[in-house]
Amino acid sequence: MKRIDAILPIVAAILAAGCVVGVPVQASEGDSQVRALEADANVLYRQKVMATIGALMKGLGCVLKKECALDDKAVAQSAGGILFMTELSDTAFKAQTESATVKQTTRPEVWSEWNKFKGGLEAMSSAATAVASAATLNNKINIDSSIRELSKTCKSCHDIFRTK
Ligand code: HEC
Repeated sequence: MKRIDAILPIVAAILAAGCVVGVPVQASEGDSQVRALEADANVLYRQKVMATIGALMKGLGCVLKKECALDDKAVAQSAGGILFMTELSDTAFKAQTESATVKQTTRPEVWSEWNKFKGGLEAMSSAATAVASAATLNNKINIDSSIRELSKTCKSCHDIFRTK
């Protein structure tokens, strides 16, 4: 949280300075620093997107384990939240960030096998839609099995596209 807050204004200030003065961007040492800052901001942003998906999934996992009693409306809303965050993930992961200086666990295969990665996001959004439908229909058995299916889509992407 603190790091992205600290980096974003710096990136914005650097970009704004370039725009106001109208200086054409030239390849220089300064340039590669800007690129690194942009990459850092991208990494931190996508981690926040994933962390939000993680928080919403925790609520659903808790329902599955019968450790908490979210009502069906809350289950449908959590699944809807995951669906929305999945749409953001597409943009959040698009930028290549090999030059980032902050720690990331995204493998470069995300970009070299973008269609496969996108397929993983699509699997997550279909599975989240299924949870939302089951919860809207108040179908307990389908709610449980659809949450299980949704969590499988997390693991199958992480196994391929995340470093341990
Ligand atoms: C299509 C691929 C894909 C899918 C599907 C996916 N993730 Fe991720 N997730 C990633 C990648 C890649 C990272 C690594 C981000 C980084 O650190 O650079 C990540 C990171 C995370 C993180 C760590 C975030 C942080 O704070 O560093 C959490 C939590 C997470 N995912 C939860 C989930 C959950 C829960 C699901 C399923 C509902 C899910 N993910 C589905 C690709 C995916």
